[in-house]
Order: sequence, then C-alpha cells, then structure tokens
Amino acid sequence: MKPINHNFTYKEALAASEKIRWRVEDIIGGDKRLDFTRPFMPESLARVNGLSFLTEHERRLLNQIRGHAYLVLFGVVEEFILPFLIDHARPQLQGDDYRVRAFLQFASEEAKHIHLFKRFRQEFVRDFGMRCEVIGPPEEIARAVLAHHPLAVALVILQIEWMTQSHYLDSVKDDQQLDPLFKSLLKHHWMEEAQHAKLDTLMVESLAAQMSEEEIARAVDEYLEIGAFLDAGLNQQMEFDLESLIHATGRNLSASELDEYKDVQRQANRWTYLGSGMTHPNFLSTLARLNAGARERIEQIAPAFC
Ligand SMILES: [Fe+2]
Ligand SMILES: [Fe+2]
Repeated sequence: MKPINHNFTYKEALAASEKIRWRVEDIIGGDKRLDFTRPFMPESLARVNGLSFLTEHERRLLNQIRGHAYLVLFGVVEEFILPFLIDHARPQLQGDDYRVRAFLQFASEEAKHIHLFKRFRQEFVRDFGMRCEVIGPPEEIARAVLAHHPLAVALVILQIEWMTQSHYLDSVKDDQQLDPLFKSLLKHHWMEEAQHAKLDTLMVESLAAQMSEEEIARAVDEYLEIGAFLDAGLNQQMEFDLESLIHATGRNLSASELDEYKDVQRQANRWTYLGSGMTHPNFLSTLARLNAGARERIEQIAPAFC
C-alpha cells in the first residue's frame, strides 16, 4: 500500500469521540415527537419533487416513507458493522491501548445508533398510522455481507461512514424545511460518524498491509459483489416504499407514472446509499492508495449510482 496522506490516529479519534456526549433519551421520546407536517429527508436524497403526478401532500408522504426506510437501512448496515468491529478489535486487545479503546468506543457508538434508529422507527410507526414494509431481517443481510473478505467488508463500511458525512454536511445541515427532530437524529449521528470514518480508514490500511496485490484486487472484487447485493436490496426497498405510498394515499398510478416513479426512486436510493459514498473524495483516495487501478475502476462504475 502506498504511503498514507492523512494524519488520522487512534488517540485523536478517541479524544474527539470522548468529547461528544449524547444519550438516545436526549434526542427522542416524551414530548420530542416527529412533526408529520414537515419533510424528513433532504430533497437531494429523497428526489420526490420531480414526480409531478404526485400532489404536494403525496410527495411529503413519500419523503417521510423514505425517511422511515433510512431508519431501517441504517439499522441494517450497523447490524453488520457492530460484529465486524468487535471481531477486528478482539485479536489485539493486548496491543496499543488507544487502538483498543478507540475500537470499543466505535462499537459502543454503533450499538447506540442501532438503538437510536429503532427508537425513531417506533415513534414513526406509532404516529404515521400504518406499517411500512422493509427488507430484512437484518441478521440475514449481515450474514451475507460478513461472509466476504474482511477488507471487502471494511471498504463497504468505509464508504458508508463517509456517505454519512456527506449526507449531513451537503444536504441536511442547511436545510431549514426538515422536521427538527429528524434533523437532530442526522446531526447526532454525523457527529460520531466523523470519528468512525477515520478509524475505518486506519482499519482498511491495517488489513491491506498484510495482503498481497492479488489479494487486495480480489477484495476489491468482493467489495463490488457486496455493492451489487446491497443494490438489489435497495431496489426491493424501493418497491416496498411504492406499496406503502399507494397504501397511504389510495392512489392508482398509470403504467407510465409507475415507470417514471421507479426510475427516479431507484436512482434516488442508489445515490443515497451507494453513490454518495462511492464518490466521496476521502473514500476514493483510500482506494487509490490501496491498489493500482481500484480508484479508476470505482470511478467508472459510480455514475450508475448517482
Ligand atoms: Fe452509526
Ligand atoms: Fe459508524
């Protein structure tokens, strides 16, 4: 692997993480309730406004259904991130104290995020008034992802961590229309994910340091296989969200409206969960250091997910 051009350290990631203190109960519950008169997702991720055959009310409902899926899908990915981190930390518990503590802190934060997303989902289900179907169960998705090479999984996680950064900074932070509670969820998640992205970068580098060029190239292939698996899941979630919208509104969409809906929302899901991470400059720079040609390969594929 080529020399590292960042200054991430376990010690600094741990110190930054220890300064952030929030509890799930500080963010949701009691009188802190979702406001269903407002959108939950930024338009750049939801992409509902271009669906001109939907009324304003229906577009807001779809935005909220996409918000519900966001809660579930983050729960899904964090359910494979958590065991992966514990497995990564476990063999070196006697090593660098900062490394051990940084990874355990990272794992503990992901467990808290799983809890946070679940709590938001409970509130959503109670107040939205109907159940929205979702992919899963998360344990089965986790099993399929974790069956791949650790470097492939670590790359997927790295992409997700940088993706979370771009969601908040590029789309959420300055959006004044969003429900303040949903925005607070995304903000608090982002605060801790900033350290995760750095720790994941160190994790990818330490895994790759013990691998040959050929092994790394194979792991990049497996990273793409996991991406294709997740893409199929997202497509299924897009179908479920459509069913939820039809159920919630009682609307009948024509064949051409359905085609348009699916094209727009398939890409919206791809961009939200895959493209916005694949194109993140820090993810691409890790890929470039990892393996000759890996960055170019991903850059060629990325437009299909944007
Ligand atoms: Fe998280
Ligand atoms: Fe994370």
